[in-house]
Amino acid sequence: MSQQVDRFFLLVVLLVVVVLNFIRSGVEGFHLKVGVGNKKVLSASDDGNVAYFTVIGDYGRNGGDNQLEVAQQMAKWCTSVAPSCDFSLGVGDNFYPNGVSGIHDSQFQSSFEDVYRPRHAFGNQFYNALGNHEYYGYAHAEVEYSLRYNNGEKHSSKFYLPNEYYARVISVGNLNILLAVFDTSPMIESYYASSKVNMTALVLQKDINRQLAFMQQTIDSISRENQISFKIAVGHHPIKSAGKHGDNIDITKKLEPFLQKNGFYVYLSGHDHNLQYLNGFDCNGNNCMHQIVSGGGSKVHKGEIDPTHPGLKYYLEESAFTAVQLTKSSMSVSFINHKGHVKAQFDIKNPQQ
Ligand SMILES: *[C@@H]1O[C@H](CO)[C@@H](O)[C@H](O)[C@H]1NC(C)=O
Repeated sequence: MSQQVDRFFLLVVLLVVVVLNFIRSGVEGFHLKVGVGNKKVLSASDDGNVAYFTVIGDYGRNGGDNQLEVAQQMAKWCTSVAPSCDFSLGVGDNFYPNGVSGIHDSQFQSSFEDVYRPRHAFGNQFYNALGNHEYYGYAHAEVEYSLRYNNGEKHSSKFYLPNEYYARVISVGNLNILLAVFDTSPMIESYYASSKVNMTALVLQKDINRQLAFMQQTIDSISRENQISFKIAVGHHPIKSAGKHGDNIDITKKLEPFLQKNGFYVYLSGHDHNLQYLNGFDCNGNNCMHQIVSGGGSKVHKGEIDPTHPGLKYYLEESAFTAVQLTKSSMSVSFINHKGHVKAQFDIKNPQQ
């Protein structure tokens, strides 16, 4: 009798272990037996056009906390899948801990120019966004820095941030990517009562209607002049997150309806210091939001993810970047850590098609 009970317990324990492992491997991402240079297989409808780009956020720490290692793996990936990436995306929190103090702040050099090398690997532009840490200092100085160096003065910095918020068409072959970058910090109510925030800087951007009207006008005019193949939106704060900061009510209320109205179903963000892919939430007919959190540009906090968060498909709590191979039909996404290991890979079908 007691032997039977023992055996029963052993079986139950075994079953629990198997089930737990299954859940872990499903959610946490899996080791793929592929190298960093794994290439997307093109479908006939893609006419050979692929855009290669990387996404990082929460990065500027003078190269420390794995920032440099991540940067080196980005360059390695870019130059292994293609001669170089077509462009790179930064999703905010560019300089820790307090943004920059002005355009001559040495962090532009130590946390950006010296880190994302060789420059050509990262493509024509390194499109950036403003995060909340920008607003602890002089956020607008990052815009001034970008304008100054992109106008050919001094050297060829790729730090691109022509305004607090902007939209651009990025053309790669006959792919036209509509990139819309938002300034989400002014949308977060609690920041207006935060002692860490440079209130002068934040209040200047308080008028969210002005931001959205400007974005609408820019998106409309770009869409009139170009046949858009893929729409990508960027904002530092996620809509949904299984990380420490959780789901964001302000972004859900103030930004998400604008994204959906304009057909942006792919949203890239940072803020939580990990990588996540969430989807299947906030559906609009057949279109659901696809959200990538790519906040692993340097320091990452372990043990913050709630693996039971609805919509969470993959996550990675390591310093890492997101690598994207985009065609007209889909974007193939990899989470690649600071050692160059591909830790998750998934496809997002182009919601516009
Ligand atoms: C705060 O923001 C204002 C307005 O942009 C700027 O003039 C000022 O230098 C900033 N203060 C700090 C400490 O960065």
